Amino acid sequence: MNKRIAVCPGSFDPVTFGHRDIFQRASALFDKVIILVSVNALKNPSFTAVERVKLIEKVTADLDNVVIDIWDGLLADYVKQVGACAIIKGLRAVTDFEYEFQQALANKILYDGAETVFLTTSSENMYLSSSVVKQIASFGGDISHFVPECILDDIKSRIMQKP
Ligand code: PNS
Repeated sequence: MNKRIAVCPGSFDPVTFGHRDIFQRASALFDKVIILVSVNALKNPSFTAVERVKLIEKVTADLDNVVIDIWDGLLADYVKQVGACAIIKGLRAVTDFEYEFQQALANKILYDGAETVFLTTSSENMYLSSSVVKQIASFGGDISHFVPECILDDIKSRIMQKP
């Protein structure tokens, strides 16, 4: 039987508990999950793609069926190329919905072979975002509620380095 592959795309700038929760749940639903560090044309990332991959590697070390990749093209092209049947997105609040709905429709038009699957975020991660983490870290605040312990120091030292 064909393996059911899901792609979980995002900026992950940096990865948080919210992302980690989605990866874990996607990993239980699919045979293989590809976490795809992708380009969001609306954002200017603080971490390089390679830095983001290293952080994701640390927080997914226990998930056997998860791999990480970098892609700077259209998501739909990547999904088609790897033969994935699903694009996994985490939805926090209603505010996420319109944007995600638009992306899901566009991706479906670009490539009809995969469905976008929305996983609702866990309630404790509802208001968590990478930008909140970066803002708190830049003021020397405690980010241990928001990111796994194994990447705490990496994020702190990296954010504090920036002018
Ligand atoms: O974590 P983000 O920033 O919300 O992720 C958005 C992302 C990177 C998944 C989205 O911008 C994307 O799919 N980028 C790849 C380029 C692409 O296909 N854009 C058109 C999507 S309709």
